[in-house]
Amino acid sequence: MQSPSVFNIVVFGTQSEFDLTKVLPEGSVIQNVNYDIDKLAEGEVPPGELVICFPPSDKSISMLELAQLLRMGYPSSLIFYLVLRREDFEKKRIIKNGFDNAFLLPWESSELQQSLGEAALYSRLPELKDYAPVKVLDLVAEKVLDFGTKVYLPVNNKLVTIGRSGEPLSGDKLRMLNEGSYGTVFVHKSELSNFHDYTKKVLSEMGQIQSETERQEKMRVAVRELVSDLFVDDVQENTFGKSKAIVEELSKTVSAMMKEQYPVIMKKMESLLNEEYSFYRHLSNVSTYAMIFSMAMGLEKPQEVAVAGVLHDVGKTALPLEVANTEESQMSPHALEAYHKHPQLTIDVIKMKRVPLHERITKAILQHHERCDGSGYPAGLNGSRICVEAKILAIADEFDYLTTLKPGQTKMTPKDALDHMIKENGANPVVMKLDVNILVTLREVLIEGKLTKKEDKNAKQSPF
Ligand SMILES: [Fe+2]
Ligand SMILES: [Fe+2]
Repeated sequence: MQSPSVFNIVVFGTQSEFDLTKVLPEGSVIQNVNYDIDKLAEGEVPPGELVICFPPSDKSISMLELAQLLRMGYPSSLIFYLVLRREDFEKKRIIKNGFDNAFLLPWESSELQQSLGEAALYSRLPELKDYAPVKVLDLVAEKVLDFGTKVYLPVNNKLVTIGRSGEPLSGDKLRMLNEGSYGTVFVHKSELSNFHDYTKKVLSEMGQIQSETERQEKMRVAVRELVSDLFVDDVQENTFGKSKAIVEELSKTVSAMMKEQYPVIMKKMESLLNEEYSFYRHLSNVSTYAMIFSMAMGLEKPQEVAVAGVLHDVGKTALPLEVANTEESQMSPHALEAYHKHPQLTIDVIKMKRVPLHERITKAILQHHERCDGSGYPAGLNGSRICVEAKILAIADEFDYLTTLKPGQTKMTPKDALDHMIKENGANPVVMKLDVNILVTLREVLIEGKLTKKEDKNAKQSPF
């Protein structure tokens, strides 16, 4: 049975620089409306299950007034505010004024897509609101569940039970979930504490600390918050303290993960790789990889390299829209010149917000596009002048690029990605971009399970 429902979205305001149709969920119908304050005030609005607003060109109406008028017209619909200029993006203020969510485009397009998809799903199947999504990855075969698990079948618009409370989840079912496109299953909210107890038990049996569901959620929220904190205009003590706290929280999360053994970490890394590309996920992944790689290289204070990872591309959000919307390979020389400023822009944004950063972090960020053969930017430094943290960051950046799912491109496993980079960079030292010595060490430690210089016990098994 085909789902008959359509998802009605009303779009207030127009702009041509962002193609909304790319992020709309299947079955949605959009209606574009011009802002008409009188009509809004009279409650004369087209019906919609979700409302999208671009900033009105008429600046005489305040954001608060606009939100109030819209809420009167749409008392129970979600209202999203979309911003294309970084200067207009003060997320907390937008939400405080009454919007349900705010997105900075194009950077947050995958977060917008996800939120729109969820909203459409909930409107199609309201009972889903009583369920929470959890990662399939956290389920273990043949272990008795004390909570039920369901999967959503879009064609039938139905939730079907896949695992029952009191019964073990068979290996076959779990394989099917892993092989299908089900990254998540749904657990009823009343049973969520049982799920948490289950993951805690399973993890402690496996000698792990934190579930992947928890870790990914924490990272995503932390990174998004940290970045949107950097947009707040008035530099208050508050902003400063909060940014610092988030960086610390992030370090804790990554450090907790690093208490596990390399083979486990690599397995988890591989499981991360099913995810689609998003700007925040890129920052979060690069941060995680940079920290793992720094530890594998035996570097002191790997948390600092993780912090550099989480911030390294933040300056991209300050680029002009025509640059932001273009693939690097398609950029005009002029756009490319602007794009090459993003490492410096990152430093500028951070400095402006007075986030205290160690010089080591600043250097790593500034040099993350420098290449060993001197072909990088912004300074064209060669290998001996690029700091090791920046070299690691560059490898983590490329590693995320190679292992992330992108349209028209097959993603690589961690092992293949490292092998690929070694092959590309090891052939001719004259045109070596990434440091091949680091790559070879990473392969030895992470894939072959050799010990780092700092380790002397617990020989590790290769996960592959
Ligand atoms: Fe970059
Ligand atoms: Fe990057």
